[in-house]
Amino acid sequence: MTPTGASMHQELVFRSVVCSIAVWCGALPHSRSLWHCMNDSSDNLIEIRDLDYSRGSLRIFRGLNVDIRRGEVTAVMGPSGTGKTTLLRLITRQLLPDAGTILIDGVDITKLNQKELYKMRRRFGMLFQNGALLTDLSVFENVAFPLREHTRLSNRLIRHIVLTKLHAVGLRGAADMMPRQLSGGMARRVALARAMVMDPEILIYDEPFVGLDPISMGVIVRLVRRMNDALGISSILVSHDVQELSTVADRSYLISDGKVAASGSPKELSSQSSDLVKQFMHGMADGPVAFHFKAPDYEEQLLGRDND
Ligand SMILES: Nc1ncnc2c1ncn2[C@@H]1O[C@H](COP(=O)(O)OP(=O)(O)O)[C@@H](O)[C@H]1O
Ligand SMILES: [Mg+2]
Repeated sequence: MTPTGASMHQELVFRSVVCSIAVWCGALPHSRSLWHCMNDSSDNLIEIRDLDYSRGSLRIFRGLNVDIRRGEVTAVMGPSGTGKTTLLRLITRQLLPDAGTILIDGVDITKLNQKELYKMRRRFGMLFQNGALLTDLSVFENVAFPLREHTRLSNRLIRHIVLTKLHAVGLRGAADMMPRQLSGGMARRVALARAMVMDPEILIYDEPFVGLDPISMGVIVRLVRRMNDALGISSILVSHDVQELSTVADRSYLISDGKVAASGSPKELSSQSSDLVKQFMHGMADGPVAFHFKAPDYEEQLLGRDND
């Protein structure tokens, strides 16, 4: 099979699973096409407006505004500790903001009740940095886990869906392996298969490239793009890996000091002249983001006088 043939085949398999889930299982989320018909009014799937969030005395966001466009890969970048993971937690309402709104399809998620929240969360698939596979379960069972937990599908259908998802990430042949037998890149791909097994509408990746060798990283980058386009979903990709993001994102946000410091296509961002954007995009040690975390005076501290 030619590469084009192979990818076409994978797309067809994706589509067939999406359709089969929608048709066979009322317990699973809405049919995407139906959802799209109902919500064509806006290009923005998620709108974050005037978001404030603090942890104790630490002000993480102050007036943050971000749009996640339907069908696109949106990158969220920023120095370590800037609040990227916190933002994902706010979007999935694991945290509540102090002020501001987070609209998903025009609905303010900060106001949902438990039942609505549960329904909304099922629209998300998440891939976390460490993959977090269950070590006592095989690759197959790891991917099957959300289906067994949240649906009453037959074993035959679960097998069909799991093998299709594993095939999509190139690991159908690893179905019977245990997590300890996988390389870092393979584990990340299994976690990706699991993240999309419930046919999510929005895939969220938190630092998916960390710790991967360049080849595995390239594979994940291409998978992110292919999942997004073949499944017609929207993706949010959090990373500090500017080079990788520029090859996959449609639109990027650079967050610093609690706000959006810059946004646009990767090309637009790299041509911006602000010192912060330049520092971040080119990985420079000197610039508005200080190398040193806030600390007492060095001499005073060395001489032990800072507590006097
Ligand atoms: N559970 C927590 N309790 C207190 N502070 C936290 C907690 N989680 C994160 N933080 C702080 O919030 C800030 C943002 O963290 P995070 O969202 O993890 O940053 P990023 O993902 O951009 O590296 C950091 O300064 C971090 O120390
Ligand atoms: Mg983080």
